[in-house]
Amino acid sequence: MSIIELVDVGFIYGKKSPYEIHALQNINLKIEEGCITGIIGHTGSGKSTLVQIFNGLIRPDSGKVLVNGKDIWEKPKEISKIRYIVGMVMQYPEYQLFADTVWEDIAYGPRNMKVSEEEVKKRVERSAYFCGISKETLEKSPFDLSGGQKRRVALAGVMAMDPDVLVLDEPAAGLDPRGRREILGGIKEYREKSGKSVVIVSHSMEDMAMYCDTIAVMSHGKLIMHGDCKTVFSEKEMLAEAGLDVPEITNTVHALRKRGIEISKSIYTVDGAVNAIKEYLRGDKNGL
Ligand SMILES: Nc1ncnc2c1ncn2[C@@H]1O[C@H](COP(=O)(O)OP(=O)(O)O)[C@@H](O)[C@H]1O
Ligand SMILES: [Mg+2]
Repeated sequence: MSIIELVDVGFIYGKKSPYEIHALQNINLKIEEGCITGIIGHTGSGKSTLVQIFNGLIRPDSGKVLVNGKDIWEKPKEISKIRYIVGMVMQYPEYQLFADTVWEDIAYGPRNMKVSEEEVKKRVERSAYFCGISKETLEKSPFDLSGGQKRRVALAGVMAMDPDVLVLDEPAAGLDPRGRREILGGIKEYREKSGKSVVIVSHSMEDMAMYCDTIAVMSHGKLIMHGDCKTVFSEKEMLAEAGLDVPEITNTVHALRKRGIEISKSIYTVDGAVNAIKEYLRGDKNGL
């Protein structure tokens, strides 16, 4: 079963004002359980609006949002409960830290959920592990940390609430390549070990190719594609129309194909390209 399903969802900012913006139009999307789903699109395409629909921060003007098969807006007064099921880390969450120590900051969510102190401890340690936060760092004030470390603490705080779906809006934005790898690698390990569902918003094709199982592509408030990486990245023209490029390595593969080297056009990782080229060379050593 899909963990989140959107049926014909539409949303307008500034409704009935002269400045209406149709941020989402007729979105039909199923987020599958246990997967890492990537949401990609150019700036202003509606990614952040879409993920705020997932956990009820924004109520759609039309259509339905189902979480675990249930309409989340059936009882609007209970909407905040959804935020424990769909945990969200907003863009630049490092500005939302407040406690005296990192440990306390991560513990805040689970404590609010009234789980036992023993369980709180377990969750803090587990989330700190996935987010690459050391034991020494747990004792520090969050305000003494670097931007990248603060981001990890904010992420660990949401992870510690143990949501069924973890939604991350641009978790790697502004980090250097190593920081990106560490944070996204930790999220991947979290998914593998916990079996939970994850949604990652990004505008980096390389990151999507490395970490996601399926990719949803947004353009001008519409969902224009949703499929596995192989399918999405083979649609180079459609992506270009949405103002997006395929990963660098896919471009290289396309360039090789243009020179008559017959390797698959749906390669999107460097490892995949290495294997395909090796195979090609084994078949035709004079080909390159
Ligand atoms: N609070 C807001 N008020 C009015 N318009 C908004 C607001 N937030 C976003 N928008 C507009 O909605 C559209 C989608 O924005 P957003 O969901 O933030 O896209 P993305 O995350 O892909 O950059 C854009 O045109 C943006 O300018
Ligand atoms: Mg955004």
